[in-house]
Amino acid sequence: MKVERMRELDGKLISHLFQAAGVAFIAANGTFFQDEDNILLVAREGGQAAGFLYAYVLEAPHDLRPKMFLYSIDVFPEFQRRGVGTALIEELKRLASDRNCSEIFVLTNASNPAANRLYQKTGGIRENPDDVMYVYPL
Ligand SMILES: CC(C)(COP(=O)(O)OP(=O)(O)OC[C@H]1O[C@@H](n2cnc3c(N)ncnc32)[C@H](O)[C@@H]1OP(=O)(O)O)[C@@H](O)C(=O)NCCC(=O)NCCS
Repeated sequence: MKVERMRELDGKLISHLFQAAGVAFIAANGTFFQDEDNILLVAREGGQAAGFLYAYVLEAPHDLRPKMFLYSIDVFPEFQRRGVGTALIEELKRLASDRNCSEIFVLTNASNPAANRLYQKTGGIRENPDDVMYVYPL
């Protein structure tokens, strides 16, 4: 299996990735992942896309080091439980370290055992179990 950072958006690949992940991909912004701070990693097995993640480098005025926000990770059903998610996260850890990030953070649901297991297995710590997320629909 190969994990590759993709900067050039091939419209076909990107709509395949998002559709396979069950997301309606609306507008392909061809330059989005050319930004050094916007990271798209694609895992391939035998040339076939097996899964992907995207993540953002976030700066804050009070922090000398940026943080990496893992926004989304999906491994397609036929490739699950074969280490693809682990390989994607390990590569993101490598990139985050190269970018001098102080941490990677990700949000998930208690009701998603696969995601929780993946994050724990790859070294993620549930730092504050009291965290709650609010959304302001606009
Ligand atoms: C979560 C997800 C990315 C995991 O990817 P994956 O390639 O199957 O993960 P890996 O094969 O690297 O497995 C990592 C660990 O998670 C465990 N795991 C994977 N799927 C699991 C499941 N359905 N139930 C319980 N544990 C699971 C694995 O067993 C492994 O732990 P182990 O080695 O100790 O057994 C994948 O299930 C997925 O795409 N789910 C749908 C999208 C999603 O929920 N994304 C996360 C949103 S926050």
